[in-house]
Amino acid sequence: MAKLYNIGAERAEGVAAAASALKQGLLVGLPTETVYGLAADATRPDAVARIFATKGRPRFNPLIVHVASAETAADVAELGDLGEKLAAAFWPGPLTLVAPMRQGTAICDLVTTGLTTVAVRVPEHPVALEVLRSVDFPLAAPSANPSGRVSATTAADVAEELGDRIAVILDAGPASIGLESTIVAIGSEPRLLRPGAITAAAIGEVTGARLRPADANASPEAPGMMRSHYAPSVPVRLNATDLRPGEALLAFGTVIVGADKAAAIINLSERGDLSEAAGRLFSALRALDRAGAPIAVMPIPDEGLGEAINDRLRRAAAPREH
Ligand code: TXA
Ligand code: MG
Repeated sequence: MAKLYNIGAERAEGVAAAASALKQGLLVGLPTETVYGLAADATRPDAVARIFATKGRPRFNPLIVHVASAETAADVAELGDLGEKLAAAFWPGPLTLVAPMRQGTAICDLVTTGLTTVAVRVPEHPVALEVLRSVDFPLAAPSANPSGRVSATTAADVAEELGDRIAVILDAGPASIGLESTIVAIGSEPRLLRPGAITAAAIGEVTGARLRPADANASPEAPGMMRSHYAPSVPVRLNATDLRPGEALLAFGTVIVGADKAAAIINLSERGDLSEAAGRLFSALRALDRAGAPIAVMPIPDEGLGEAINDRLRRAAAPREH
């Protein structure tokens, strides 16, 4: 079972234990500002293979490389003018850039699943940065959940689902954003592969170019962006304006008439605040999943952070592919 460190009380010991485990090729449950990551040495095939085995992740789904600075990122990927602009504007922070991999990096093929591009990000969470600075290799880190399931936003989520296969978990409290990073592919024109807390509009302002929005109905450009993802095991019905018998309600703002008859009810934000809703989304889906009733989800405005929330909800509601 993983050794769990509470960052508030035992930060130095926790970071040292995490660094030591990573140097041995073992896995660490790592807090980031987006979601908890399942981290390993990105240069060691045995360590990266452990990530895939632990998550049950298909081998064609590449991982994000986490580094401590934009300079280190530039050693891994050819960011180009556009990438450097985005890095300067948003790193450290919840943005992942997909760019051509630099020749001769030590990143192992398993991380990129043999692609010529690599996904890289500088997280903003102080504990993630401290761990990255305590080792002299980049960290491959997918979200710390079994493949296809809802991402982990607390250390308890990580411990519950993957704890018996991880060396160390650092508990720094709930992830502040609660949704995975925005992913942008750098090319002649940038493409949004996954919406997140950094919105398409914010990216467009920096690049001056219109960012082509992710299209949930197009074939996935990020190999791991299956239509069904972030999925609870119970059925999910979107844009519910009524409640059907036996359903649980995932509410937003003022609840619909009849909500008192719901099998369970969680309000993502009573005051209709999108960032509060994003922070609660995955833990709410987990809790309602445990309650076992089908989930009716109230409409959520498709603007700003709402685009990322609705993207995850569409994937949670999509027919299962696995
Ligand atoms: O917020 C986050 O990004 C979190 C934290 C831990 O940093 N990580 C995360 O990783 O969400 P993961 O593995 O759950 O999602 C990574 C996504 C996948 O959809 C994968 O297909 C895509 O990034 N990806 C990775 N490398 C890629 C590449 N070279 N080209 C296109 N997509 C790529
Ligand atoms: Mg994931």
